[in-house]
Amino acid sequence: MEELRQKYLNAIADAADEAALEEIRIRALGKKGEVSLKMRELGRMSPEERKTAGPALNALKNELNAALTAKRAALADAALDARLRAEWLDVTLPARPRRQGTVHPISQVTEEVIAIFAEMGFAVAEGPQIETDWYNFDALNIPPHHPARQEFDTFYMHREPGDSRPPNVLRTHTSPVQIRAMEKHGAPIRIIAPGRVYRSDYDQTHTPMFHQVEGLAIDRDISMANLKWVLEEFCRAFFEVEEVELRFRASHFPFTEPSAEVDLRCSWQDGQLKVGEGDDWMEILGSGMVHPKVLKAAGVDPDQWQGFAFGIGIDRLAMLKYGIPDLRAFFDSDLRWLRHYGFAPLDVPTMRAGLSL
Ligand code: PHE
Repeated sequence: MEELRQKYLNAIADAADEAALEEIRIRALGKKGEVSLKMRELGRMSPEERKTAGPALNALKNELNAALTAKRAALADAALDARLRAEWLDVTLPARPRRQGTVHPISQVTEEVIAIFAEMGFAVAEGPQIETDWYNFDALNIPPHHPARQEFDTFYMHREPGDSRPPNVLRTHTSPVQIRAMEKHGAPIRIIAPGRVYRSDYDQTHTPMFHQVEGLAIDRDISMANLKWVLEEFCRAFFEVEEVELRFRASHFPFTEPSAEVDLRCSWQDGQLKVGEGDDWMEILGSGMVHPKVLKAAGVDPDQWQGFAFGIGIDRLAMLKYGIPDLRAFFDSDLRWLRHYGFAPLDVPTMRAGLSL
């Protein structure tokens, strides 16, 4: 029996894996295993012999079972150790470099514009891009059959057949935010409203979606002179040059009276745009004194309040400031273009050191 014990304990100690261990268990303790067969022989022994052989065989069986269990656990531990070693991960390795994205020139310029007007005391207001025709047109003194409605190349939203309400529109300008802001806050008020606008138009300086920033200043005695100062001051700060030259051209908008369009002196040299010099003019904004009917539509008493409004093309500003010749490229999502004209995320909006306030 001692021979049997040594043989199997050695075999268990030497087993290389789980499968080998199972084989040993079957050879010793399986139905036809050596130890099991010995136990069966107990029946043919005399009671005297059985008295010593029985407990001894039982003890052997228990010892082998215990050895098997211990070895199985040891093998599992070793396997886990090996796996931990193989799958080891160096968390101190530096990360793989990732290319940083850039800030789109439109976003950058919008931030610059907001920073400059904020310094002049303008708060930022917002409105929806899908607008009712009342906010986009009627409230701005453009009644249903006014020719100005055609001039805007409006995108109309769909209505269910049988729904006779006038269709909503993709706002053609940021001017509806004037109405929404005055409805909400009344007068006096000083806001700008940057955002997307839409018109069906497409060439080197027009895209069907573009960006404007609306300005609105209403108080008791705001005049055209204030408008001129604000716009000139804005342009000087934005273009970071003293000799920005603006041209105020008499114009017409249904929602302002009088109205003026403003052009900026610029030049094209070898396909590059330069501000402040040359013989060309680039139209950058429309403006004027807010029409009394517009104030009334927004719930502001025109006998007590007056002021100016303007709408600047943000995309035009970006083209001029950063010398970008084709507006369409702004919205092509061409990575090479974005990396070339984009800004680092931490580029703080540039601004000439302080306005002459
Ligand atoms: N909404 C006008 C446009 O898009 C611009 C404008 C705004 C003109 C405010 C006057 C006053 O053309």
